[in-house]
Amino acid sequence: MKIAVYPGSFDPVTNGHLDIIERSSKVFDKVIVTIMKNSSKSPMFSVEERLEFLRKVTKNLDNVEVDCGSGLLVNYMKQKHARIIIKGLRAVSDFEYEFQMALMNSKLNPEIETLFMTTSSKYSYLSSSVVKEVAILGGCLKELVPDEIIFDIVNKIRKTRG
Ligand code: PNS
Repeated sequence: MKIAVYPGSFDPVTNGHLDIIERSSKVFDKVIVTIMKNSSKSPMFSVEERLEFLRKVTKNLDNVEVDCGSGLLVNYMKQKHARIIIKGLRAVSDFEYEFQMALMNSKLNPEIETLFMTTSSKYSYLSSSVVKEVAILGGCLKELVPDEIIFDIVNKIRKTRG
């Protein structure tokens, strides 16, 4: 069984992430979408909130599982008996960082392969950071994140920012 892990912060999941999840679920027997800690980011949404968002938007994808992990991604991969990391690439600007991560993960465990999937061009401008900025400033989130989570995002921002 070919298992792939799609790791990320997903703070929150965007339509760009969902596009990668849907497309990779057609290529692999099972895709585990895993929230991991990015030490250079401070998330706006708790792990529980992000898990809930991911569960909502993947509920119709039978071979997609949602999870969270801690520590090194390569150790998480071992626990899950998975060797393939899926990453989405939007533009050249993503490449340097992702290339470094892929090489580091391969250095930590040479059995791990990172496969890059290009983001569909219609989502190439999207990122969780841009989505959060639009949401905080009262812009419309339609077409940026899946419809099922728009209310939850707006509600959380209203509660925390008044
Ligand atoms: O969505 P992001 O923030 O670009 O995802 C980055 C993430 C969470 C996948 C990455 O930071 C990660 O793998 N974190 C776990 C710790 C780890 O294994 N780091 C890579 C080796 S230094």
